[in-house]
Amino acid sequence: MNTLPELQRRIEAAGQSQVFRFWNELDADGRAKLLGQLQEIDWEQIPALVAAGVVQRPDNVIPADLEPAVFFPRQPADPAQQERYSQAVKRGEELFRSGRVAALTVAGGQGTRLGFDGPKGTYPIGPASGRSLFQYFAETLLYAERKYGRRINWYIMTSQLNHRATVDFFASHNFFGLTEEQLFFFSQGMMPAFGTDGRILLDAKDSLALAPNGHGGTLLALRRSGALDKMARDGNDVISYFQVDNPLAPVVCPLFAGLHDLEGSELSAISLTKTGPFEKLGNFCLSGGRVHIIEYSDLPAELAESRDADGQLRFRAGSPAIHIFSRAFIERLTADGRLQLPWHRADKKVPYLNEAGERVEPAEPNAVKLESFIFDALPLAARTMILEGDRDEMFAPTKNKTGVDSVESCRQSILARDARRLAAAGITLPPGVAVELSPLAGDTAGELAAYLAEHPVVTAW
Ligand code: UTP
Repeated sequence: MNTLPELQRRIEAAGQSQVFRFWNELDADGRAKLLGQLQEIDWEQIPALVAAGVVQRPDNVIPADLEPAVFFPRQPADPAQQERYSQAVKRGEELFRSGRVAALTVAGGQGTRLGFDGPKGTYPIGPASGRSLFQYFAETLLYAERKYGRRINWYIMTSQLNHRATVDFFASHNFFGLTEEQLFFFSQGMMPAFGTDGRILLDAKDSLALAPNGHGGTLLALRRSGALDKMARDGNDVISYFQVDNPLAPVVCPLFAGLHDLEGSELSAISLTKTGPFEKLGNFCLSGGRVHIIEYSDLPAELAESRDADGQLRFRAGSPAIHIFSRAFIERLTADGRLQLPWHRADKKVPYLNEAGERVEPAEPNAVKLESFIFDALPLAARTMILEGDRDEMFAPTKNKTGVDSVESCRQSILARDARRLAAAGITLPPGVAVELSPLAGDTAGELAAYLAEHPVVTAW
């Protein structure tokens, strides 16, 4: 920790002394708050960041050698692969039975598009039950615990902006039947917002305008919070990573976990077949022998539209942001307590204090936010594994209130999946009737039949 004069010197050298503009008006609490925020910033890094990514738009250099990444297909292509998948399912089940798998949810985002007052994970997504996204995942973990006889630890990343509300939500719901010991909440880092002139904005006289530093902040936050140490103590070395807004994420998937392990992968991913060349999913690509995700907006149109001889899109593997990390990989990347994944720029409307200390609510984007993305860890992995997943079974993102990737579409996907599960157990729903099942009802027809025998009343909608 720096003394005040030392910090002032570093901040001045970084060209950001305006952050002290109202210092003389602050009381002791205000000064302590601002100092706490200023101590967290790597000031030596700021001038280069501002020059490269704020005052000018960063050049998006797309590698010239992009090829589609190789992935394991949803259905095994031949008997040898069929055999590999069977081995993988067995290995995956062993991983769950021996307690080596932990779940990791990233829930530090601001959920601005959803416009919901509260952490996104507390959103009542259940179409009939109103169960929250967090409850949905908790029941998925309880189901797996019942099936494999081992508790699954759950790591939940929040940010300073929603940490308290998230923890309180779990506590007020009795942790949804999980134990407090198996839950670990940790906060990600924050990043200041910059004016387009490169100056850090103030949100109040005693506070910078701060935002979570992107899901790429997960890896360092795992290290700094002590989560990695706890994982090591508990023997968790296979980390199932998913986003809080996708209740259908395959958190407990023996095939995925087993292939990750058998392939010796450091970072694995689920891919989905894109619905069209410009679907808004990152593209799995190969460059220089490493896997990269190229954002949909960055993939040149001629590549996005190019097709194989059989007419399929060449770059058809899209990313739903579902991963498995090996703990050793995260330990390696963060060994010296630092990790800087590339920054991505977003132009946003950020309220701020002007020089006169008046609050300004901009009508147009006035600020640059910088975020790092978890998928930029892919090219750092010595070995990766990509498995094609089933979109209907695994992907229902809740980004917006209505329309594409919305609460509405997510609820429809949940009900459609539950109807398929019921049909597999021999229960056909009359037209116009939908039934929501708890994740506790299980995945297979046998599990569902056993669940229904014990829980004859399910919620109809
Ligand atoms: P999104 O990019 O969809 O962002 O995050 P968001 O914050 O949920 O929503 P908008 O863009 O403001 O509308 C994808 C996932 O990554 C997490 C989110 O919580 C979500 O699970 N995330 C995002 C973080 O954990 N931290 C971040 O800094 C950003």
